[in-house]
Amino acid sequence: MEMPRRALLKVIVLGDSGVGKTSLMNQYVYKKFSQQYKATIGADFVTKEVQIDAKLVTLQIWDTAGQERFQSLGSAFYRGADCCVLVYDVNIQKSFEILNNWHKEFVKQADPVDPEAFPFILFGNKIDVDGGSSRVVSEKTAREWCASRGDIPYFETSAKEGYNVHEAFLCVAKMALAGE
Ligand code: GTP
Ligand code: MG
Repeated sequence: MEMPRRALLKVIVLGDSGVGKTSLMNQYVYKKFSQQYKATIGADFVTKEVQIDAKLVTLQIWDTAGQERFQSLGSAFYRGADCCVLVYDVNIQKSFEILNNWHKEFVKQADPVDPEAFPFILFGNKIDVDGGSSRVVSEKTAREWCASRGDIPYFETSAKEGYNVHEAFLCVAKMALAGE
């Protein structure tokens, strides 16, 4: 019998402060959610093992700081990434508009061989807020942005409710593995 091949995949999570990057990771890895906001300082990672077909994959998920004063990650940090997760808050327009900057910054810092083919993925988070009535960025608008960036996969999530979080990170794992 063939032993499953192991792979360590580096995933970097980027997005504006407060969009829920840390919360998404905590929900995914620990099934926990906290209402309390504690800004991430610098960057830290968690690992999660995922089985994909016959392969056991270890995701090394890097959580980063959205707050500008805590951003001091050099290009050494970004290099070698297998996937980049971009996160915005569907209730905050600015967090969506600033995605262009995060995307550009990642490409600049990570300097992937083929930026067009690099696996990005977009999460639209906090879809639970006010039952969806305070939402300002539509799914259609988000999908158009993804299409304009070379068909980036898109997931709508709620870190609070745990909605779509596993599905979204499974896609991350598959994309990272495929591009390895
Ligand atoms: P930085 O570390 O500053 O970059 O922020 P972050 O993107 O890591 O945001 P964080 O996960 O700390 O969440 C910010 C706030 O939003 C916290 O108070 C969370 O409880 C809340 N939050 C995160 N995700 C959700 C969600 O899906 N729904 C709701 N209702 N609140 C959320
Ligand atoms: Mg954080």
